[in-house]
Amino acid sequence: MLYIGIDLGTSAVKLLLMDGGGKIHKIVSKEYPLFFPHPGWSEQRPEDWYEKTMEGIAELLEGADRSQVAGISFGGQMHGLVALDQDDQVIRPAILWNDGRTAKETDYLNQIIGKEKLSEYTANIAFAGFTAPKLLWMRENEPENFARIAKIMLPKDYLAYRLSGVHCTDYSDASGMLLMDVKNKCWSEDMMEICGVTKEQLPKLYESYEVVGTLKPELAEAAGLSDQVKIIAGAGDNAAAAVGTGTVGDGMCNISLGTSGTVFISSKTFGVDENNALHSFAHADGRYHLMGCMLSAASCNKWWNEEILKTTDFAAEQAGITKLGENQVFYLPYLMGERSPHNDPKARGTFTGMTMDTTREDMTQAVLEGVAFALRDSLEVARSLGVQVSRTKICGGGAKSPLWKKIIANVMNLKVDIIESEEGPGYGGAILAAVGCGEYGSVEEAAEKLVKVIDTVEPDKELTAKYEERYQKFRKIYPALKETFQELS
Ligand code: XUL
Repeated sequence: MLYIGIDLGTSAVKLLLMDGGGKIHKIVSKEYPLFFPHPGWSEQRPEDWYEKTMEGIAELLEGADRSQVAGISFGGQMHGLVALDQDDQVIRPAILWNDGRTAKETDYLNQIIGKEKLSEYTANIAFAGFTAPKLLWMRENEPENFARIAKIMLPKDYLAYRLSGVHCTDYSDASGMLLMDVKNKCWSEDMMEICGVTKEQLPKLYESYEVVGTLKPELAEAAGLSDQVKIIAGAGDNAAAAVGTGTVGDGMCNISLGTSGTVFISSKTFGVDENNALHSFAHADGRYHLMGCMLSAASCNKWWNEEILKTTDFAAEQAGITKLGENQVFYLPYLMGERSPHNDPKARGTFTGMTMDTTREDMTQAVLEGVAFALRDSLEVARSLGVQVSRTKICGGGAKSPLWKKIIANVMNLKVDIIESEEGPGYGGAILAAVGCGEYGSVEEAAEKLVKVIDTVEPDKELTAKYEERYQKFRKIYPALKETFQELS
């Protein structure tokens, strides 16, 4: 049978056609616009996601045996607020995961409701990108829109709804709304009350590998597919990427170098970081994970190359980098503020340490290193909780750079396992579809059979020591600038 995995990202939707043996037959990518209506705000139109997904499905299936397509599932950008009215029309553009407008609401939740209570209700505290503070923002700033909300959902759930007609979400993605009791996998009555929403406005919760419905007959007919094609709930993109890289079960790690950067640690049991610097979320394999998320990862490199250096040849910019571990330039990657571990929407990007002999290569290197240092910040939180991690998988656009993988391995002192397919969330989505359609008995079984490690980047002792010294310097820069960032904002 064939399965479609849809990775609903921030810059594009990527669709992938996989067979039951895990072989990828085709990948199609369709871009859509991202809007920044104010500095630090970030929005997209759900209708664009749907339109591009449908175009993508048509292209993906060209030349394929459509009768073999059994299931469709998703990995989607997390936390975005999609609000539908009673006719299921989108009320306003979706407010995305990297939107920083909710500083006031986040402070209210963390300071007035209190972090302890939030953690008790949901296993997490409030971060600016999470969905609950966005609801509070909408209630305060757009009361007419807020009053029209009949259904709230997350980005990939809007696609599942358009394809199947079912209002659904899954536990992994719903964990990032700050409306779900992660430990008990149900909506939190307390959080619904705080946010002024009812259970009827929230979608039904499913495991990521569960079937929510079938493809609407009119869409099936238009695509030349059976109307028995199953729609499977899918997962937040990080949980889906973890499935796609085989990061399931206990104590496995995956680093995602996409628009955001994440350190994802799977766990068979529920656990909370007592300072809540890491998110405690449900996993797509039916269990749990801890995750640190930085808001600008590969997007820093994209910004640096495309907006500043005015080039799209990222590899050429990296080709002249030879002084690993010896760069005097530091870069703070907080172009959209920062989530883990600082939880500061007002933090900003910064270069420091330049001298008259600083080169273009040094600056590019600093960008790659700054992202690796910021990822290490999250890993350090995990290590401080006693989590032992010595190796990781890696995925996302940034993972295509061998240099960046080497920097990550040495900054984090981790063995970095390279897998055959770096298509994290899309591949994970297709695997979830295969599990939902009964091709495999469990997500763990499917991941074990389908995900293959083809190489490992080993950290080098001397380079790791150099980077250790540089990381200790990097750690001092944000605290030194924290107050200034507040004043500048
Ligand atoms: C995770 C997060 C990001 C988005 C990116 O908490 O906000 O990784 O899911 O798509």
